Amino acid sequence: MRLITNRIRGMQDLLPGNSENWRIVEKTMCEEASLHGFKFIRTPAVEHTELFERSVGDTSDIATKEMYTFDDKGGRSVTLRPEGTAGALRAVLENGLHNSALPLKLMYTSSCYRYEKPQSGRYREFFQFGLEVFGSDFPLADAELIIAAESIIDRLGIKDISLEINSIGCSECRKKYNEAIKNHFASCESELCETCCGRLKRNSMRIFDCKNESCKKICETSPVILDFLCDDCQKHFNSLQAYLSGENIEFTVNPKIVRGLDYYCRTVFEFVWNNGNAPIAVCGGGRYDGLSEILGGPHLPALGFGMGMERILMIMESQNITFGESTCPQIFVATADENARPTAIKLVSALRKSSVYAETDIMGKNLKPQMKYADKIKARYVMVLGDDEIKSGIAKIKEMSTGKEMEVSLDEKNFISDFLSVQFDGFAIK
Ligand code: HAM
Repeated sequence: MRLITNRIRGMQDLLPGNSENWRIVEKTMCEEASLHGFKFIRTPAVEHTELFERSVGDTSDIATKEMYTFDDKGGRSVTLRPEGTAGALRAVLENGLHNSALPLKLMYTSSCYRYEKPQSGRYREFFQFGLEVFGSDFPLADAELIIAAESIIDRLGIKDISLEINSIGCSECRKKYNEAIKNHFASCESELCETCCGRLKRNSMRIFDCKNESCKKICETSPVILDFLCDDCQKHFNSLQAYLSGENIEFTVNPKIVRGLDYYCRTVFEFVWNNGNAPIAVCGGGRYDGLSEILGGPHLPALGFGMGMERILMIMESQNITFGESTCPQIFVATADENARPTAIKLVSALRKSSVYAETDIMGKNLKPQMKYADKIKARYVMVLGDDEIKSGIAKIKEMSTGKEMEVSLDEKNFISDFLSVQFDGFAIK
């Protein structure tokens, strides 16, 4: 039978060697978010297609080109989530969480699926660490969210990240703005790509998502949304900037950020990695005050961001940031004969209960290959149990890097305290 061993294009395996860092990064993100009051949620990977069509917008690239949509066995159209916000809001509304104390602050790590052209840092299955805040339209909420993202990036030790913010106003501001850019793009329609000619008819703002060089050039000279903000939106944006400056958060206002999802209003922002080549967005987010109503819910101002886990880890790797947690066992308990195995597994279990990473042979190997294996997995200490050790109740622990040895009692309690003292105080104590 032909082996099926190739994974789907744009999707990755997370393997030992990388998975340790991944888990620590995720834990660090969750810990930092907890300090900011965020509570963990998990929503299904599959939702009704309509949820995404209505939220990310049926003219967005995501909805028109990138969604993994299929009919389930009951003939319902369902979609693998392309992002985390729509599902989070759906869960809030469906479970009535918005009826409890507001603001409601939620975090998640979700796999997301977009049928994009895979390249470095862009996958078809990727993971987002996301934060969402529900219930506040106050600009301090925007500032606090951005500060939370900044703290996470800081705590991970990542450098060369810059923050860009913008306001895309409310629907009233955008009505006027849309008219202005429609005129601008219409005046150079012949230079727009075919997709953008379609966008011009349906939603001119989506032309800013285009990667075509000629369209990008036309975008450069287009009117900017900041010139079309109403008084309230301008005030909101000014307050956000004042709060950020007050917290010494560095940012630049980039009036070209419009974001590729239709649900945004007012604040939008991106954290970008400047690695000398093309800048890469590691975190993107903003306000979506109107989305709850679009989904049939009550008025519920909201905002949030998604951080690309793969991109964060890619940057950490390129900046040589690693976490100290060792993946090597503290001790390998080798067995010289069959009689020693029950004692070996007993001691290893006791060590594990004391939070020590310990291993013994479960392959039925002879002593020599066991020692080779212990060396390969870089066990810090090795102890060999044979007839003599079992009879005398005493064995030797050897530190592999120095060759130093220490006698320990095989009595379970004494053994654990002896071993823990070895770890903390070194061999000098005996
Ligand atoms: P987004 O900008 O589409 O926003 O994605 C957020 C982050 O996910 C990006 O900054 C990037 O790091 C990562 N990302 C996006 N696409 C890919 C991909 N194909 N491969 C790898 N990483 C990727 C959202 O999804 C919004 N839901 C964010 C949000 C939350 N807005 C409000 N709340």
